Amino acid sequence: MPLHINDIQLTDIKKISDPDGRGNLSVIENDVLPFEIKRVYYLYDVPSDGTRGGHAHKELQQFLIALSGSFDVVLDDGKTRRSITLNRPNKGLLIPSGVWRELENFSAGAVCLSLVSAEYDENDYIREYSKFTSIKRG
Ligand code: TYD
Repeated sequence: MPLHINDIQLTDIKKISDPDGRGNLSVIENDVLPFEIKRVYYLYDVPSDGTRGGHAHKELQQFLIALSGSFDVVLDDGKTRRSITLNRPNKGLLIPSGVWRELENFSAGAVCLSLVSAEYDENDYIREYSKFTSIKRG
């Protein structure tokens, strides 16, 4: 089924609140994601005017979490562009393959955790927007 950008939604991550007021614990178990986690990386110290991403992936899927602070994820499927704010450690954003993304408006201290489905492979990146749209047009 062709992906529509409006199908991409924030996902709840299990949150275990401590009954004695010692804070929260969130856990991502293997059955939550549609892929096996092969790699974990994180973005931090991103300046407020900095933009990350600016690419799509041919195969790789990823799950983003704002572990701290907030940032916006602009998603683009070649037809529609949409911005989603991540600002809670118990919400995640699953980005399927074939979606252009840009991460922007990082708050001070923001940390973006990324759980991904594959090893790092530069050949899986589409880094030119014109190439992305031409692939999407078929
Ligand atoms: P990139 O994926 O373009 O970062 P972002 O999408 O957050 O802007 O990666 C930035 C640089 O880091 C690029 O030179 C590739 C390198 N890199 C690795 O070596 N290993 C990795 O796992 C990742 C994600 C990036």
